[in-house]
Amino acid sequence: MIIVIGCDHAAFDLKETIIKHLENNEKISNIIDCNDEVRYIEKDGKFIPEAVDYPDIAKSVCEKIINSEEEIRGILICGTGIGMSIAANKFKGIRAAVCSDIFCAEYCRLHNNANVLCMGARVINADKACELTDIFVKTEFEGGRHSKRLEKIEKFEN
Ligand code: RB5
Repeated sequence: MIIVIGCDHAAFDLKETIIKHLENNEKISNIIDCNDEVRYIEKDGKFIPEAVDYPDIAKSVCEKIINSEEEIRGILICGTGIGMSIAANKFKGIRAAVCSDIFCAEYCRLHNNANVLCMGARVINADKACELTDIFVKTEFEGGRHSKRLEKIEKFEN
């Protein structure tokens, strides 16, 4: 499985932690990082990451997923995960779920076949984000009665 990941300025550190964490996951063949190199600006005597607009990053991640022929899932992180999920769900074929607990991370895969996990760096800590990521990567869609519901959602896209 390929993982494509991106974040805004609220989540650079968390994204690096998740990438390092995923490098030990046997299920993953490649991790694509959609952020350009982080630029730092000086503000009030401190160096902080330059702001990045989350819709631009959501677009890069979603387009990679849509255009991939291999098994691929996305991870998008911003302050809350909400902006990323709103943006990602505008793309045809994307089912993005913002999660901050184990139950939702599992069920967004089991029942919703979510292909993008969104998380908030200002909502959950790094350990929790890695835990949710592992669940999102390992859990498979149940299909069955849930497929027909996803087909109904797909019709909204057309
Ligand atoms: C950036 O300050 C913040 O608005 C963004 O990271 C995100 O939380 C939006 O949903």
